[in-house]
Amino acid sequence: MSLSDPGWSAVDDYIVGKLIGEDTALEAALANNRRAGLPPIDVSLAQGKMLQLLARGVGARRILEIGTLGGYSSIFLARALGEDGVLVTLELEPEYAAVACANIEHAGVGRSVDIRIGPACDTLEAMCSEGEAAFDFVFIDADKDNYPAYLDYAIQLSRQGTMLIFDNVVREGEVINPQSSDPKVSGTRALYDALQDNAKIDATAIQTVGSKKWDGFLLALVQ
Ligand code: SAH
Ligand code: DHB
Ligand code: MG
Repeated sequence: MSLSDPGWSAVDDYIVGKLIGEDTALEAALANNRRAGLPPIDVSLAQGKMLQLLARGVGARRILEIGTLGGYSSIFLARALGEDGVLVTLELEPEYAAVACANIEHAGVGRSVDIRIGPACDTLEAMCSEGEAAFDFVFIDADKDNYPAYLDYAIQLSRQGTMLIFDNVVREGEVINPQSSDPKVSGTRALYDALQDNAKIDATAIQTVGSKKWDGFLLALVQ
């Protein structure tokens, strides 16, 4: 415990113990990520389960994820899909995508997951021009300076009622600092600006604390 964690991680452990439980495939994914030197910036277990429940709750058959890393969040999202569902997940780094591929296979959901490697804006542009079918649920978690661009692409690849979730929209409170020189903060602020008075999108953001400290998710519905 410390000032920056007055019990948040311990409460996350309690939540996991009561409501989720140990999961060997997810634990193996984190161990593989660590071994391969990936940064430990995956969603938490409790957050991943929330994404899974949200995607399952909206009956998602087609899910888009922007920012795969080692596939930890991808495993939750793939588990939300029915037999015939698909998760398309976009990752810049081929080395990360290879780790993700192994983790996703090991979790037994490889059949549902399509990892596309490259800068996500390029992949999304191609998906739009090639007439990719609409997604039911979109999780956006890649480079934060591109969040406004990812919003535009996500809308283009949506239908009425598609749910969009952006990660890391609070950043320990830095999001309200207009002077911030961190492009992750300015990119996230530009996302809020794009959503301000946007009649096409109904949105909120929820601050979170836990093992990933103080951050938050932005939830938006395309109407
Ligand atoms: N969703 C993951 C964490 C993603 S971390 C999880 O919770 O398990 C953000 C990822 O976005 C990193 O793997 C990073 O390589 C990737 N990324 C950064 N810039 C990108 C870009 N321009 N296009 C696609 N992916 C990008
Ligand atoms: C960072 C990125 C993330 O997606 C995250 O959940 C936490 C941190 C980062 O780039 O710092
Ligand atoms: Mg994140």
